[in-house]
Amino acid sequence: MNPELFFTKNTKAALKNDPPGEWMPPVPDYCIPLSAGYPAQSLVPYNEMNEAVCALIDEEKNLPFQYLGSKRVNTVKKFVRERLVERGVVLLEKEILVTAGAIQGIDLIARTFIDRDTLVVVESPSYMEGLEVFRNYTDHFITVPIDENGMQTEELEKTLKDRKEKNLPMPKLVYTIPSFHNPTGTTMSIDRRRHLLELASEYNFLIIEDDAYGELYFEERPTPIKAMDSGSRVLYLGSFSKTIAPGLRVGYVAARSDLIEPLAWFKKDLDHPFAEATLGSYLIQTDMKKRFEMLRKVYQQNCKTIISSLEKYMGEIATWQQPSGGYFVWVNIPGINTSEILVEAMQAGVSYVPGKHFFVHEQEGLSYLRLSFSFVSREEMVSAVEILSQVVKKHLNK
Ligand SMILES: Cc1ncc(COP(=O)(O)O)c(C=O)c1O
Repeated sequence: MNPELFFTKNTKAALKNDPPGEWMPPVPDYCIPLSAGYPAQSLVPYNEMNEAVCALIDEEKNLPFQYLGSKRVNTVKKFVRERLVERGVVLLEKEILVTAGAIQGIDLIARTFIDRDTLVVVESPSYMEGLEVFRNYTDHFITVPIDENGMQTEELEKTLKDRKEKNLPMPKLVYTIPSFHNPTGTTMSIDRRRHLLELASEYNFLIIEDDAYGELYFEERPTPIKAMDSGSRVLYLGSFSKTIAPGLRVGYVAARSDLIEPLAWFKKDLDHPFAEATLGSYLIQTDMKKRFEMLRKVYQQNCKTIISSLEKYMGEIATWQQPSGGYFVWVNIPGINTSEILVEAMQAGVSYVPGKHFFVHEQEGLSYLRLSFSFVSREEMVSAVEILSQVVKKHLNK
């Protein structure tokens, strides 16, 4: 029996891509995982979650275990709405769809708006799992380079203008991570955010604004593109993974109701009501503003540590962007193919994500790697950068 006969055209096309998660081989236990885009273990509030679950079950009995029923589920939407209003995004609860993580939001948007021949604009580089999802639905991408001020919207404008003049297909969606970008750590300037909105209106496309790291700024709080979206062209994605716990799998999409309503056709009840009720219970008992402030301080300090280690051990062989928030620093090591030395680096005791996985055109990312400063302790971070520098120097001297 040939399973191929049973797959849809879309599935067959998707299966031509690498399997999910292919970008990272298993990391041995002895390795310091600078590859991990996870919150620090000490910052996952497991004691408070324990209390939240107990309060939830004590008070609501069987309800959180039903398909629907826990009052606390509504707390999540209410919290999201109030927090977005504080960040300048004014919307109604019906304009928010709670999802199983931001990644389900990306998948639902892709299913709803992308046909196999749809053209999607992505940043170069971009979040590798986002790319994986889009590739499940289309093979057609326009890539726009990033610099220290985020997506180069001037380049996007040139491309759009040129395509229009030549009567070529135009993109329907632009996917951007404007604040504390994964993997580069950069933030899009306010002028470019405005410019992108102008382009969306002129060339008639939707913007997917992925703000998974938006709360984790070090000094200046960026204004979401959604806060300036007078034409309602932005589908805004948020997540509780980076600020509370990724295992809960709770995120959301916020957009004009007639844009997000169709997503519910595909979401059905494939989110996690028990996790949402637990999160609701946790949100009721937690001062989230204080928590966000605490997280910002810890991650800012972690970032300082990794940057000073890079300066100390790799200052002469590598360059990087200074992150102003988020989890990651993006390092360029000219003359090194970071995929080729990953196994050796892991044997020496450090892992990272090779740059090529963040690009539609992999060869553009060969000399880059992404280091995370969120997960491991500061002491481990310093030793990991030292180990990495030794592996790299050995190859540069060959
Ligand atoms: C830019 C970006 N978007 C979305 C996600 C996924 O978030 P979630 O855990 O809510 O699915 C991540 C996680 O790494 C991310 O970096």
